Amino acid sequence: MVKTFFRTSAMLLLLSGSALAQNWTVDSDNSRLSYGTIKKNSVGEVNSFEKLSGSVSEDGKLQLKIDLGSVETNIDIRNERMRQIVFQSIGSADLTAQLDAAELSQLAVGATTVVDLEATLNLLGTEIPVETEVFVARISDSKVLATTNDMVFLGTEEAGVNAGVDQLKTLAKLNGITRTVPVTLRLMLTTEGKQAAAEPVAAPAPVQVAFAGDVKAGKKVFKKCKACHSVKEGQNNVGPSLHGVIGRQAAAVEGFKYSKVMANADVTWDTESLTEFLTKPKKFLPKNRMAFAGLKKPADIENLLAYLDSTSK
Ligand code: HEC
Repeated sequence: MVKTFFRTSAMLLLLSGSALAQNWTVDSDNSRLSYGTIKKNSVGEVNSFEKLSGSVSEDGKLQLKIDLGSVETNIDIRNERMRQIVFQSIGSADLTAQLDAAELSQLAVGATTVVDLEATLNLLGTEIPVETEVFVARISDSKVLATTNDMVFLGTEEAGVNAGVDQLKTLAKLNGITRTVPVTLRLMLTTEGKQAAAEPVAAPAPVQVAFAGDVKAGKKVFKKCKACHSVKEGQNNVGPSLHGVIGRQAAAVEGFKYSKVMANADVTWDTESLTEFLTKPKKFLPKNRMAFAGLKKPADIENLLAYLDSTSK
């Protein structure tokens, strides 16, 4: 197996980041949480919550409080109904997540990045997992802007507000209202000029083993695979989970029904075999069931492998 590993240490990153570890506060005036609804199949409306508060702690813990009473639907009676019927007069909902504090504090002024966010929304006592990409821009030393990269869809059933929505529908004599709402979030985070009092002691940096490609660029290439593959362990879709695929035998994911040729292939997925396979899947393994024409650019594959490697840790 020919693998082109190179080793880097995270020490440098830690050194440059630790001086900037800070507490961030949500600037309510410049933050916004909105959601869309569609009634009668055609009338789209945007509602929002006017009051958000919260913080990101030095170690990257995001806590966002959404004041449910501040819901703004642009119609007073409807605001009232939303508060009492849908939100059951409960004061607030909480969104919590763990962010990569080091990555955020290292972001240079003017720079942007896209990070994965796995958050939990606690609404009316129900915990709803929320997964999304967040676009982050460092506006100044003391300001960071974060927005959802795309819309996030939230089901009213899952959110535990279906019964309330039913009642609203009856009250407003609507014959239809969507049960999935697109949500967008914009957060403006500011520091209060509070530098961390003591320099945090940096934990020993794990030695990272990385492929030569560019992980971020590889993540973009992976969009071509996403329709069928997940990089999450155990998550099989049309294609098998690609978690830890580099270095493993072909057709090794338990519970996935491979084609005969794939199941019988005597192949270990390494840089070489993956490069060949992904260039022309049908040529590498005739009659395999992956309906994908192939990646033409060698650089795309190199970046993709770096990304796949990074998700398998
Ligand atoms: C249209 C759906 C689809 C797309 C798009 C797709 N795949 Fe697949 N992939 C599959 C299926 C189905 C299999 C199983 C094939 C079989 O059993 O013959 C598979 C198998 C694989 C395997 C072998 C896995 C194993 O466990 O042995 C790898 C590696 C792989 N795909 C990588 C990729 C990558 C990387 C991309 C994007 C560049 C991609 N695939 C795009 C459907 C897809």
